[in-house]
Amino acid sequence: MREVLHNITEEELGKQHQFIEKVKALSAGETRFAMIQTYGCQQNEADSDRMRGMLTNMGFEMTDEREKADVILFNTCAVREHAELKVFGNIGALKHLKNKRPELVIVLCGCMMQQQHRIDEIMKKYPHIDMVFGTHTFYKLPEMLYDVLTNRDRHVEITETATPIIEDMPVRRESSFQAWVTVMYGCNNFCSYCVVPYVRGRERSRHFDSIVEEVKTLASQGYKEITLLGQNVNSYGKDLDEGKDFSDLLTALNALPGDFIIRFMTSHPKDATKKLMDTMASCEKVENHLHLPIQSGSNRILKAMNRRYTREQYLELVKYARSVMPDIAFTSDIIVGFPGETEEDFMDTVSLIKEVEYDGLFTFIYSKRRRTPAAEMEGQVPQKEKQDRLSRLMETQNEISKARGEHLLGSIQRVLVEGVSKTDSDFMTGRTSGGRLVHFKTDEDLTGTFANVKIIEARAWSTTGELMK
Ligand code: 5AD
Ligand code: SF4
Repeated sequence: MREVLHNITEEELGKQHQFIEKVKALSAGETRFAMIQTYGCQQNEADSDRMRGMLTNMGFEMTDEREKADVILFNTCAVREHAELKVFGNIGALKHLKNKRPELVIVLCGCMMQQQHRIDEIMKKYPHIDMVFGTHTFYKLPEMLYDVLTNRDRHVEITETATPIIEDMPVRRESSFQAWVTVMYGCNNFCSYCVVPYVRGRERSRHFDSIVEEVKTLASQGYKEITLLGQNVNSYGKDLDEGKDFSDLLTALNALPGDFIIRFMTSHPKDATKKLMDTMASCEKVENHLHLPIQSGSNRILKAMNRRYTREQYLELVKYARSVMPDIAFTSDIIVGFPGETEEDFMDTVSLIKEVEYDGLFTFIYSKRRRTPAAEMEGQVPQKEKQDRLSRLMETQNEISKARGEHLLGSIQRVLVEGVSKTDSDFMTGRTSGGRLVHFKTDEDLTGTFANVKIIEARAWSTTGELMK
C-alpha cells in the first residue's frame, strides 16, 4: 500500500502552479508558440494532453509548425525500436533550426527517456537538446522550463521511482468530444518482451471517486466518448483498499447522467473475468468492443512470453463474451517472430485468429528491447522470416475483417461522428460501437454528434453508409 504517497502533495502542486505563473510572466505579453509531437500509445496522448494544458496556462499557443514554435516537445515511446529510430530522425533534423534560432527550446520526454543508454546517447550526440525528462516527472514541466528559459542550461530530470499520482494539473484535450481518462498507471506483468514495466513503473490506480468526478465533469461539458486507459485496466483497484474493481468503475460511470459512450483499453486476458463481460453487457454506455491482446496463438510461445494464460482459456473467454454480447467486436495485438517461434507456432496464431474472427488486429514484428528477458533468449528469428510471417498474418486478417464488415451490411448503426473523412472530403467519418469506421455523405457538419447510419458497403477496414434522417 502506498497510501501516504498516493497523490502528489498540495505543496508540490502549488509550487508547479507558481512556476506556471513565472513562465507566463517571462513572455511579457508576447505570443509564444509550443508544439508537442506524441509517439506511441494512448497513455502518451493522455500525458501530452496534460503537458498541453500546462503549456497553455504558461501562456503558450499551440502550433503544428516547427518553424513557428519556441518550444518543441517530443513525447517518446520505447515499445519498439522503430518508434525510437523515428525520434532520433526527427531530432537530428532539428539541428539546423536550432542553429538558426538558438533560443528555440527542444524537449525530449516520455518512455524512451526512462532508459539510461538513450539518455547517454542524447547527451553525447545531440547537444542541441535542452531538456530531457522521463515519465515520472512530467508534472515538473513548468519548473524545468523556467529553469531552461532563465539559465539556458541543459536540464535532465529522470527518476526510476514512480512518482505518486497527479490530480489537478491543467489538461488541454485536442478534441472537444473525445477524452482519454487514465484510470491507472504502470504495469506489473513483465511480459518477457516488453519494456513498459521498466519505463512506466508498477501499477498505481487512481482513486475511484477522482475518476468518477472527472468523467462526470467531462460528460457535463458535452464530451461524447470517454476512453478509460491503463496498461491493464483489469487490475484496476488491486493496489488500493477501496474494495472496487474495474467492473465496479464501469458500473458507476455508466450511471452518470449524459448521452456519452465509454470505451477502455487495454485488458489483459489473464485478468479479464466473466464479471467484466456481464458488466459490459448490462451497461448501455459501454461500447460493444473488447480489445483483448492475445500476442500469440501458441501455448509454448505464450509461456515464453510470460502471459500466464493458454490459448484454450482465451478462447473460453471469447466464447463467454459472445454468449452475453452476440455482436461484440474483438480486436487484438499480435507479435510475430518472438524468439523461438517456429512455423508451427506461427500457424497456431493463424488458426487462432480464424477461430476468434477478430474485427481488427494490431500486428507487430518482435523488437528486441534492452533489459527484457526475451532479448537474451535463444532462437531470434531472422528479419526476413518475421516480415514474411507478418504479411501472411495481415493477409489472413484482411479477409476476416472484410467478412466481419459484411455482417453489418443492411444494419443501422449508431456512430459517433469524428470528422471529415481523411480520404474523401465529401464524406464524414464515424465509428460504430464495435469500433469500425463508417464513411457517409451529409450536407451538414455532424462532427461530435451521434448519427444513425445504414451500412451499404463493407471493406476490410472501413464501411460506407447512408445517413438515416
Ligand atoms: N516487440 C514487438 N511488439 C511489442 N509490443 C510490446 N513489446 C513489443 C516488442 N518488444 C506490442 C504488444 C503490445 C503492444 C502495445 O505492443 O503486442 O500489446
Ligand atoms: Fe507490456 Fe505485458 Fe504490461 Fe502489456 S501487460 S504493458 S505487454 S508487460
